[in-house]
This record gives sequence, C-alpha cells and structure tokens, in this order.
Amino acid sequence: MCGIVGAIAERNVAGILLTGLKRLEYRGYDSAGVAIVDKSGVQRVRRAGKVQALDDAVNDSGTSGTLGIAHTRWATHGVPSERNAHPHMSGNGLALVHNGIIENYQSLRNRLQGEGYEFHSDTDSEVIVHMVHQAIAAGDDLLAAVQRTVRELHGAYALGVVSETDQDRFIAVRSGSPLVIGLGIGENYVASDQLALLPVTTRFIFLQEGDVAEVRRDSVRIFDRDGTEVEREIHEFDGTHEDAEKGEYRHYMLKEIFEQPVALQRTLEGRLGSVADLDGLFSKNADLLERVRFIQIIACGTSYHAGMIARYWLEALAGVPCQVEVASEFRYRTHVVPEGTLFVTISQSGETADTLAALRATNSPNYVGRLAVCNVDSSSLVRESELVLLTRAGPEIGVASTKAFTTQLAALKMLVLAMARVRGVDEATIQAQLDELRQLPGLIQQVLLLDDEIEKLAEQFVEKNHTLFLGRGTQYPVAMEGALKLKEISYIHAEAYPAGELKHGPLALVDKEMPVVAVAPNDELLEKLKSNLQEVRARGGELFIFADGDAALENEDGMTVLNMPAVPECLIPIVYTVPLQLLSYHVAVMRGTDVDQPRNLAKSVTVE
Ligand code: AGP
Repeated sequence: MCGIVGAIAERNVAGILLTGLKRLEYRGYDSAGVAIVDKSGVQRVRRAGKVQALDDAVNDSGTSGTLGIAHTRWATHGVPSERNAHPHMSGNGLALVHNGIIENYQSLRNRLQGEGYEFHSDTDSEVIVHMVHQAIAAGDDLLAAVQRTVRELHGAYALGVVSETDQDRFIAVRSGSPLVIGLGIGENYVASDQLALLPVTTRFIFLQEGDVAEVRRDSVRIFDRDGTEVEREIHEFDGTHEDAEKGEYRHYMLKEIFEQPVALQRTLEGRLGSVADLDGLFSKNADLLERVRFIQIIACGTSYHAGMIARYWLEALAGVPCQVEVASEFRYRTHVVPEGTLFVTISQSGETADTLAALRATNSPNYVGRLAVCNVDSSSLVRESELVLLTRAGPEIGVASTKAFTTQLAALKMLVLAMARVRGVDEATIQAQLDELRQLPGLIQQVLLLDDEIEKLAEQFVEKNHTLFLGRGTQYPVAMEGALKLKEISYIHAEAYPAGELKHGPLALVDKEMPVVAVAPNDELLEKLKSNLQEVRARGGELFIFADGDAALENEDGMTVLNMPAVPECLIPIVYTVPLQLLSYHVAVMRGTDVDQPRNLAKSVTVE
C-alpha cells in the first residue's frame, strides 16, 4: 500500500509528481506529500487527506524544482495526519518516501534516539531517513549511504531518497514492495506502478528484489542486492493511456463494471477456438498438467472467492481434488502437500503481500508447478511463477474488484477445461463448454441492461444496517462476493451464507430490518434454495432475489424478484456476480460514500 513517485528532469517536476500520485491514489489515500529540490534546498509540502488537498497546497505555494519525490499514504504505523505523512526528513536537506513496513523499526529508533536523533512522526519509515543521514555524516555519498542503510532493514520497502546536496540524482530501492523505473528523454522517473507514469513515458524497467537504482536525468544505474552493477531489461507498455482514465463514467467502479464484456472478450480471445487450443494455454509446460493430482489455490479477498468457485468446477468437471485457502492463513499454517500438487495463486495486482509470501514458501518437492492467474503481467507474482494465465482485464483502479473477478473466473474456467482434457473428459463435453464460454460477453451485456432496475432496488437498502446474502453451490461464493462488495463500499454490514446453513443459526437474525439477497439461477439446487427462501419469508424477512426467468419465482409481498437472462450452467457464477456488483455500487452512491476509495482500504495490499 502507499504509492511512490519520483522524477528528475530539466523542467519543473511538480506536475509529474502530482499527476502520478493521483494515479496511485488507489494504493492509499489518507495523506500525501512531496519533497521538491531547488536551489534553495528541499521544499516539503504535506497534507492530510487526498492528493487534491496536496495539489492545491503545492499550487498555492508555487513549489517547483527539477528533482522530487512524492507519496500517497495508507497508514500502518501512526494515524493518518500531516505529521505522519511522507516524505520524512532528516535535518533540512534529506528527504525520503517509503512504501512497506520496517519490522525492526523499534530497535533502530531506540538506537537512533540514543545517538541524538529527534523523531517527528510515529511512523516506522522515519528511521530510514535518519540512518541514511547518519551514513552520509560518516562519509558515505548518497548512493553508498542508502546501500548501507538497507542492509540493516528487516521487512518490506520501496524507497525514494533525495538530498539537497546531490541535485543530479535520486536513489530508489525495491525490496518486497513494487517499484518501476520510467525512462524519458532527458528525464527519468520512478513509481510504485507504471500507471502513474503513463502520461510521461511508456518505457519501463521493473526493478528486481534488492535492487538499488541511481536515477539521473540522462542515465539510470542499477545495483543488485550485493552491490554489483546490473543490466535490467527495458519493457514497452502495450496498453493505452485511456485504459486508466474514468472517461464519461462517474466512478472507476462503474466504468469497470461496464467494461466487463470487453474485458472478458480479451481474456478469452485467441485461446478458445477449439479444444486443441487448450493445450496452447501452457505451451512451455503442457505436459505438467498431466502430472497434477491435486490443486492448492491461494488468494485473498475477491480473488479468494474466484478460487472457491474454481474448486467446485475442478472437482465436478475435471475430477481433480482441490483446496482453497486465504493466503494469510495458509502461509502460517503447517500443511500437508500431497504429491503432484499444482500451486495456483490468484491475484488482480500480483503484488498482494500474503499471496506472494505463500508462493515464495512453496519449497516442497511435491509441488509440480506454480501457476499465477493474474491481471498484471509485470507483477512479482507473474515473474516468480513458472506458469501464468493472464486475465487481461486492463487496469482496475476502483478499490472494489469487479472486472478482475469475472475475468479471473473466465481464466480459471479455461484451466478447468485444460485439466479436464488431460484427465480424459470427452471432447464433446469440453467443446460444449468452450462454445458456451464464447457467449459470456453477450450475456454480461444483457445483465448490464438491468442497471436501471437494480438502481431502483438499491433504494430499499440505503437505510439498512445489515444484509444477508444467500446462495447454494457455486452461488455461495457469489453470495460471499456480493457481501464483500456491499460492505466495502457502502459500509453496510453484510454476511453471506450457504442457504442450507440458514437454519443452523443465522435465521435468528432475520426480521423486517434485515434484507436478504438471494441468487437463484435455474440449476440443480434451485428447489432446495426455494425451500430455504420460504424459511426466510415465514419469519417476516424481506427477500430480494436475482432469479432465472424460468425459476417460477414471482414478486409478492416481502419478495422482490429481478429476472435474469437464461444462462448456461457453466457460466452461472460469472453472470450472476454482475447484478450484485451493480447493487452495491448504487447503494454506495445513494449513501454518499467514496465509492472508488472507500475508507480504511487500499487497492493493492502490499503489506501484511
Ligand atoms: C475486493 O473488492 C478487494 N479489493 C480485495 O478483497 C482484493 O480482492 C484483495 O485485496 C486481493 O487483491 P489481489 O487480487 O490484487 O491479490
């Protein structure tokens, strides 16, 4: 979490830094700051709140210079406030921005305080700038001082450091938190994500773990963890600048919901002509799937819900046993790795700290391979996995994950079909599902036409404090995803249950004040679900049901039914997720919350 930008140029860099920060706000948005170096020294401006407040302050003060670093924060140590906002300084001439967590900061802080350093914030980050200052005072130049300092740090960090006495360079470090160098003409930059720099460049170097970069106007030198100078590949960004803009939409989330037909088209494109195309999915490792006897899926949040759905599919169609677990639990649990296990991570960003840590701990010989299902091809997760299935959703900026989820499901469906093929499932069954997958963009388009109706429905949730989501089979994770969406952007407490579990406890919660949302496609569990819904009605509960037109569910007192198009069984969880996204979106807008940047959250969770 937190976003970093740095720039060195012949021109004023304030605009580059502030634009970059705005594009990184998805990473954190509780306070922001810049340190810009000019002839008079380091000018620091910080503000609590969003980057716009900082932008106004920088413009009002006329702060300008050709070298600078900037930061937008998601608080870990110390409350969100101007005092805790980055950059942090040591003396008046050295400034630093940090993304990550320094685990041994307390002992470093005690030591530095004992040596006379005064602290001006409650952050873990401030120790780093004082350590660099101390190394410079002992005779190091800026680069050597940073290299010496990071050797003492435990934890995760991406850093940017500027000094008033070194106006022709800044230093950047990557270790456990993402950082990318942007290459310009006569100017160079650094940022937590290439999105921040797309207005100024499309050429990037992705720093590797432990890299320290010395960035000058006309050159970039990179040193690895051991201090050896290294060459890193230059990558050309192949998306468009507009992908990351809001366009005509009021919020990124709405834009991203409506982009789903196109995003899904891109995910499927070129991969699904015929059954034989499935072999090409893992071209370099095609034979690996034949050795898979068990699948372990690891993810967090929405991506975890995608994994839960994939488990139903994998066991039912491909007959492969599968377990799904949230990364933060899995990584700290002693677990058994069955022989022939394929380790699958699912992540939009590819930088989620717990998911990455779980991947990095896969050292059992029983793993046959590690597959990342991911949306960002330059991410750590992709680079550190030998098998990759890119979801191709395009940049997702809204904190609430939408198109990332449905494209993950489409990609996972392809994995399931590829597994089914190597496990000897007949071609006709697989071909039928491939043909159905191709209907997906069109079906989602039809659901998007229900937007006005769903907006009306949303009015009935605005005054509520709680909501229950119900589903059975693959619709249980869909219900979980619906509940997560509602709680994270509308702040309404929401829970999801498999409908059959209702009578084992949660039914006690049901009364007129508890809306109950149910997902009722025309599948083999429909009649079972209907019985569960009767249990809710019998207790005066208010039902809102997204149902197949043939489900024989009608509007009645206490029961509002919204009819969905007919959907092939294998696509049900993907299609039925969309109305729940729209419902949460409209409820949040009506409640006046910050839809794209909900309180206390950040898009990319790069700390534990
Ligand atoms: C969901 O809307 C959230 N943004 C969150 O649960 C997210 O899915 C989770 O943090 C995992 O992120 P990742 O997919 O980038 O790994």
